Amino acid sequence: MGNTPGAEQRTQGTRTLCITSGKGGVGKTTLSVNLGIAMAAEGRRVVLLDGDLGLANINVQLGISPEFNIMDVVKGRKTLAEIVCKSKYGVDFISGGTGIPQLANLGAAEQATFMESMASLTGYDVMVIDTGAGIGANVIRFVLAADDVVVVTTPEPTAMTDAYGIIKTISSNKLKPPMKLLVNRVASVKHAEQVVERLNTVTRRFMNGLHLDLVGYVPLDPLIEKSIFQQRPHLVSNPSVKSADLIRAAANRILDPNYQKPSSGLAGFFQKVLSFASDR
Ligand SMILES: Nc1ncnc2c1ncn2[C@@H]1O[C@H](COP(=O)(O)OP(=O)(O)OP(=O)(O)O)[C@@H](O)[C@H]1O
Ligand SMILES: [Mg+2]
Repeated sequence: MGNTPGAEQRTQGTRTLCITSGKGGVGKTTLSVNLGIAMAAEGRRVVLLDGDLGLANINVQLGISPEFNIMDVVKGRKTLAEIVCKSKYGVDFISGGTGIPQLANLGAAEQATFMESMASLTGYDVMVIDTGAGIGANVIRFVLAADDVVVVTTPEPTAMTDAYGIIKTISSNKLKPPMKLLVNRVASVKHAEQVVERLNTVTRRFMNGLHLDLVGYVPLDPLIEKSIFQQRPHLVSNPSVKSADLIRAAANRILDPNYQKPSSGLAGFFQKVLSFASDR
């Protein structure tokens, strides 16, 4: 790396990074939390957004209970900056909660209020957005609006089929945010490369030569599972094991400025989220 950590990002405003998958349970939330922690350890100022409507998971992994969520911003009761929670691990956190689907239903005046509150959230290099699985409207809006998208899959055939499905949906939209692959729960790097090669064979053939880079891989590690039970992030509990090294390597690769298009910042991100909502 060698450069001043975060220097590039700071001149660009907040980059938005969406972690998504076709199939559920492949490790999105775990990786969002730990990638965020790895980025913070590299000197980036990181905020995690829980964009999953189902169970609010990030806060469980961080061991915090947020008092407010995006709904409070949508209703004009709080600004975005006011609903940020601090964690013990160097990353901040915003709960999407029931406010996420509400973003699809805002009138013009509410949209304006929401966008105004955006301006209050400054000082972050990266917003990591954890989504639910699949191609539901609430997930896809966030994915399409992000500067960078990481599609998580495991080597299981069902996870790969569903990864293919979400890649197809994303790549057929005119916005086409850049996508990279992160393969979780693998036995070896070779195993991860096989998964990527298999997926790329199909995307090349059926999606106009599309090729997705492997941004990282994470082995199946019982310590990761254990960290969930302990409600203490893996990178904090087990910083020196191989899977932690590999998560840090993936975080560095994701942040590599040579590897990124310009960011549209948080205002651009939420503007896109809201505009998809009004398209529907
Ligand atoms: N590399 C890994 N090794 C071992 N266990 C893992 C690994 N990655 C994730 N897990 C375990 O898999 C389970 C599911 O992970 P997680 O909740 O992060 O998935 P998810 O994709 O966010 O799920 P959902 O789609 O329900 O939101 C967790 O219990 C976690 O401990
Ligand atoms: Mg999750």
